[in-house]
Amino acid sequence: MLRRQFIQSGLVLGATLPSLVACMGKDGSSSPRDTVRANTTPAREVDPKLAPNAFPYGVASGDPEADKVILWTAIKPRNDSVDAVPLRLEYVLSPNRLKNEADWAALFTPNATRQLGEFLALKARDFTVKIDLGNVALYEDVRFAVGQVSALPAAQFIYYRFVAGSQVSRIGRAKTQPALSTPKANLSAQFAVASCSNLPEGFFSVYDMISQVDGLDFVLHLGDYLYEYGEDEYGDGSALVRNGVDRVPEPATEMVTAKDYMLRHAQYKRDPELQRLHAQFPMICVWDDHEFTNDTYRDGAENHTEGEEGTWAERSANSLRAYFNWMPLREQFSRLSTGLRPDPREVIYRRIRVAGLMDLIMLDTRYIGRDKQAATPGVDPDRFNPNRSLLGQAQREWLQLQLLLAKNEGAVWTFLGQQVMFGQLNLVELPQIQALGQKLLGNIAAVNMDQWDGYVAERDRIRQFVKTIGLENLVVLTGDIHTSWAIELYENPLLLLGGALEKPFGVELVTPSVTSPGFPDGVAEVVSAAIPAANPHIRYNELKTKGFVLVNLNADRMLAQWRYAANIKDPAQIGVENVAMRKTFEVLAGTNKLIAVTESALPLPG
Ligand SMILES: [Fe+2]
Repeated sequence: MLRRQFIQSGLVLGATLPSLVACMGKDGSSSPRDTVRANTTPAREVDPKLAPNAFPYGVASGDPEADKVILWTAIKPRNDSVDAVPLRLEYVLSPNRLKNEADWAALFTPNATRQLGEFLALKARDFTVKIDLGNVALYEDVRFAVGQVSALPAAQFIYYRFVAGSQVSRIGRAKTQPALSTPKANLSAQFAVASCSNLPEGFFSVYDMISQVDGLDFVLHLGDYLYEYGEDEYGDGSALVRNGVDRVPEPATEMVTAKDYMLRHAQYKRDPELQRLHAQFPMICVWDDHEFTNDTYRDGAENHTEGEEGTWAERSANSLRAYFNWMPLREQFSRLSTGLRPDPREVIYRRIRVAGLMDLIMLDTRYIGRDKQAATPGVDPDRFNPNRSLLGQAQREWLQLQLLLAKNEGAVWTFLGQQVMFGQLNLVELPQIQALGQKLLGNIAAVNMDQWDGYVAERDRIRQFVKTIGLENLVVLTGDIHTSWAIELYENPLLLLGGALEKPFGVELVTPSVTSPGFPDGVAEVVSAAIPAANPHIRYNELKTKGFVLVNLNADRMLAQWRYAANIKDPAQIGVENVAMRKTFEVLAGTNKLIAVTESALPLPG
């Protein structure tokens, strides 16, 4: 099917399809090739289609490449009778990073401002709009009433806002990646890694800490961006009140229906810290289980009751549709011709290149190809079954191709941005831990069957492929388990206990959660201290504190720094870091070894 037909059919179906809708001029003509200059914003007037505050969800950007970036917003219509709201994009290109949001508005002078539109925010897409700015191929058969799409310049900042009727959104800032031809010696990158942000569990202090970091190129969100539970099922939102607003989930019951998923996404997008984070930096995101429901796999989930909560097919489709509408990720239209499975509307695995410095391969280990988890508590031999898959065959073959491309095209570092812990975690031989009992251990089992440990053959296939092609500097980035880990990746880490000297084939950085709980006080310390005895490849763990990982790299070395929030329950401490807890590791290119450092040659952003 041609792209245009796809777009049109998407509108008819109202499914998880591209949101861009370009309107031609009234006479069917396109605008002149020269960029149309912005007029002054019209005086505020009552618009029959718009709520008094039409942009309560802010703006977001995502999936930045050297020539394009996704820009997103959502509109609040005046009432239920509205089906579509026209709006246009205004943006300014600049080589300059302006730190203070207060300075951004001054950039929108008539001469500097470019316009594009109009676009339609459709009820069928929850009144969200997603524009792939700079993606010339996507728009080649589309003409706009105002402005035109041309490829974006590399390494540029894009300051952007949306205009609907007389109302203007807040301003966001995005940034394109450096040109592929940039010499490696001139390249560096800085980004934050986050996961597991449960709204009724705490304030998003960690997001505010990330927003304070100057000089980030983008933020990776590895999933559990939102949670499905009702009030008091996983956090008491009524106990967290700021400026008269509590954090009770909307709806107050578990999200199951299409409307539930939409309302929950909309609520998260109104959170001030999350909204500011999106305005500050492009996000590169993947889902984990809670964007669906707990412990999702391809054909179901632990927290789904077939029949009582509808069919899994319906529920997962509700989740997918909401995710694609509300998250600023590029939708994978190019896969359309490959047949029904994987359905292109389910594909989030993708590759983003940061010139020759790093390849970022984002994976879906959660949904598209995952076989049901083996039985707990970890003795089920099915975890070694070579026929069980975490990625699915199509994604695994795609991943192998991307790894080969990364190798052949000379990326210094290859990152896998994904959901569940890749390295082995052995708690079986630790009596101190088993004595605590399974209840206290929470989501860390003796062997966690939800992680790659539950899909051993799949992990072996990836490791063998990396070794076979001689890929250097593999870095796995992980979320999901609400705890911090720095891991060297070995085929058999237990051999290290016998004094074996083996070069690791990569490292893994596991980010703690934004708010979701880890281990309780007391238990966290006991488990943390016991882990190294049976896990010599695990160089660091911290099991209860909320935070994120800051990554900074150039062609010679990578720094990873864990940063922690002082308090997520007290609104007066939003954005306050517990600086004494910072933990930093350095990886020199070519080593795959984690070295704890207190000072480093590479500056970390303040
Ligand atoms: Fe989580």
